[in-house]
Amino acid sequence: MAQRTHIRFILDGEVVNVHDIAPTVTLLEYLREKLGRTGTKEGCAEGDCGACTVVIGEPAAGKISYRAINSCIRFLPTLDGKEIVTVENLKAADGGLHPVQQAMVDHHASQCGFCTPGFVMSLFGLYLNETAPQREDVVRALSGNLCRCTGYRPIIDAGCRMNDYAHPASWSRTYARDTKRYEALQAIAATDTVSLGGGAGYCAPVSIDELARLCADNPQALLLAGGTDVGLWVTKQLRDLPMLIYTGNVAELKSVREGGNAIEIGAAVSLTDAYAAIVARYPMLAELAERFGSPPVRNSGTLGGNVANGSPIGDSMPFMLALGVTVKLRRAGGEREMPLEDFYLGYQKKALQPGEFVEAVRIPLSPAGRRFASYKISKRFDQDISALCGAYAFDLDNGRIAKVRIAYGGMAAVPKRALQTEAALTGQPWSRAAMEAALPALALDYAPLSDMRASAGYRMQVAQNLLLRFFAEHSGKPVPTRVTELEEH
Ligand SMILES: Cc1cc2nc3c(=O)[nH]c(=O)nc-3n(C[C@H](O)[C@H](O)[C@H](O)COP(=O)(O)OP(=O)(O)OC[C@H]3O[C@@H](n4cnc5c(N)ncnc54)[C@H](O)[C@@H]3O)c2cc1C
Ligand code: FES
Ligand code: FES
Repeated sequence: MAQRTHIRFILDGEVVNVHDIAPTVTLLEYLREKLGRTGTKEGCAEGDCGACTVVIGEPAAGKISYRAINSCIRFLPTLDGKEIVTVENLKAADGGLHPVQQAMVDHHASQCGFCTPGFVMSLFGLYLNETAPQREDVVRALSGNLCRCTGYRPIIDAGCRMNDYAHPASWSRTYARDTKRYEALQAIAATDTVSLGGGAGYCAPVSIDELARLCADNPQALLLAGGTDVGLWVTKQLRDLPMLIYTGNVAELKSVREGGNAIEIGAAVSLTDAYAAIVARYPMLAELAERFGSPPVRNSGTLGGNVANGSPIGDSMPFMLALGVTVKLRRAGGEREMPLEDFYLGYQKKALQPGEFVEAVRIPLSPAGRRFASYKISKRFDQDISALCGAYAFDLDNGRIAKVRIAYGGMAAVPKRALQTEAALTGQPWSRAAMEAALPALALDYAPLSDMRASAGYRMQVAQNLLLRFFAEHSGKPVPTRVTELEEH
């Protein structure tokens, strides 16, 4: 197997080869400290503030996909084969500002300016992808950017008007389809395994067999996908990591397939692409998808990482448990598939054998008539970790509950089904009285903890309320359950 001992990416239109780099150096550190490109800022170093936003390009279906990411938690070696665009790139050769920057100036969208490059890069990502963004698109694109002094209204105004300006001398939207750029990226695409010697070592295989072999040979190694969990172990917990095996170049893990009445999502598919496929089939999950981190977090992070990390407050697991999702596991010489609920053995304990990894999740499509939803409860609407998250899937037969699956995150040490509540509901009429009668069973299913996000009592009360909300929203008569809907009434 061909091996490469350096990484290469495109910056300022040139191929940059980097040798001798520690595997956990972040893109932000490299830009600021090695290259002196200090336009990209460090605020939180944990993906929360957006000051470090840059845009990454990679070939996808005949064009270049440009997406915003947080450079503070993304390890530099994972940029191999990609194009990096920083705020310094936006200015034209004659010094003219890019429309995004000019709109920010014209709408007085900056005061101290610390957050501004991050906002500009998030808007620039939107500019490249949307010809006529609506206000909601702008608000969504900026949900991972914090500003402490200007206030958001002028910044949002700038985003809404950035398309009013003439096409820029550099970085017009057509760049995504520029053949020369596309070919340049294809020429450096990772087709061979990258193996770096710094730190405890880093390998980025390109096939699933090679990944399985590397995992078998190095059972102490840590798999790295988008790094939106792992990155923080370095930037916040200052941990020394073991050898890293990066999954992001493994072609077999990057596909989304639909067939056999299920959607199969490879473990290295980004949350952005995974949720796009899921929401196409389950439109009721659109809000959950939008409230998962922020666009830069979803552009780097993967569904496989969310499942494998198995945080008790991870947002994808409750709905997947309610839908009966299975996880495909792989290791050298074998594969197996298990229901997601069997994958979680205890707090941070998963049913993975040494050298085994998550290959994909299979999400079954629902039978017609199923009533299904998932609700996330957190202190902020955007970019916040859940206090709890509930999911409900009910199949009715002649007005009775024939089958029901309910799951919560934030209520136990693992994301977990409410088996006692399900039993209390099965066979009952689809009625408010049946829901109310089943509420006490939630206390048999869960003994939630109190922590900084919520008290145990709050969690239990809200878990019960969410079941009633689900009934209210699915009982035929539309009931407004959101503040915005109430305002409209
Ligand atoms: C600012 C911010 C906001 C966030 N918001 C949310 C949120 O709203 N909801 C939420 O649920 N999470 C949230 N997260 C957490 C994180 O984004 C998710 O858990 C994400 O899905 C992790 O995916 P990743 O690809 O980045 O995983 P990584 O960080 O690369 O890996 C996570 C874990 O999974 C393991 N792993 C990765 N791939 C595999 C594989 N194929 N097989 C076996 N093990 C594997 C790794 O070894 C590691 O233990 C947030 C994180 C940040 C930084
Ligand atoms: S520095 Fe705050 S998101 Fe990166
Ligand atoms: S302009 Fe000061 S933080 Fe946004």
